[in-house]
Amino acid sequence: MRFPAPSPCGKTPLSAAGLTKSYGSLEVFSGIDLAIDRGSRVVILGLNGAGKTTLLRVLSGIERPDAGEVVQGHGLQLGYYAQEHETLDASQTVYENVRHKAPPKVSDAELRRILGSFLFGGERIDQLAGTLSGGEKTRLALATLVVSAANVLLLDEPTNNLDPASRGEVLKALHTYAGAIVLVTMILVLCRRFLPSMSFSCPMALRTLGAMTSATWSPSPDGPLIDADGVT
Ligand SMILES: Nc1ncnc2c1ncn2[C@@H]1O[C@H](COP(=O)(O)OP(=O)(O)OP(=O)(O)O)[C@@H](O)[C@H]1O
Ligand SMILES: [Mg+2]
Repeated sequence: MRFPAPSPCGKTPLSAAGLTKSYGSLEVFSGIDLAIDRGSRVVILGLNGAGKTTLLRVLSGIERPDAGEVVQGHGLQLGYYAQEHETLDASQTVYENVRHKAPPKVSDAELRRILGSFLFGGERIDQLAGTLSGGEKTRLALATLVVSAANVLLLDEPTNNLDPASRGEVLKALHTYAGAIVLVTMILVLCRRFLPSMSFSCPMALRTLGAMTSATWSPSPDGPLIDADGVT
């Protein structure tokens, strides 16, 4: 299983220095330095309201930091998954949605294989996107991101409304993507299976991990994390 190669980019397509963001008197984060290397896997952890979504919105350029800067590296092409934002065309089929996001040279057979890895087989690929269930829309939105030319994906809790089996399959598919992924999640098991090179815990503690496995991972000292919920 191969996804289309993301467009070429420099060694560090996205980085940030000294990021600080407040809403009124609420300081969400301050002084965050972060470097997302080509093809790397980074997890952002934290409880509700910790600032995970705000950080992704700042990294994506949707929101401006109060201080510090986001540095877009050479060749950066971002793909952003935000649950509230529908990026799908409801009037097009499942297949048409990915066709329009994929480079033209990607064959129909390849696209069908990719859709299969996101659990759209048989006739499902001809279903109108607007009629999909919430979890199915999530899977399709992720499929459109991995077939696009994006070389850094920012994914905000992409597996929240997926059942455990779909979650496992989607995670497997994401492993095949060659670009960098910044994943926001509260699900510890997901972190383990995602094998991040770095995990970032909101608020404000940066930990660098060689490889996060069940043997080496322990919850962040900054706060409790929601534990396994059926994914093994
Ligand atoms: N536009 C805004 N105006 C005022 N406060 C905001 C705004 N956006 C976010 N906040 C506050 O900033 C804090 C961080 O919010 P954020 O959405 O980044 O949290 P989160 O870690 O993504 O939480 P969750 O796990 O619930 O998704 C919260 O206390 C939130 O209420
Ligand atoms: Mg959030």
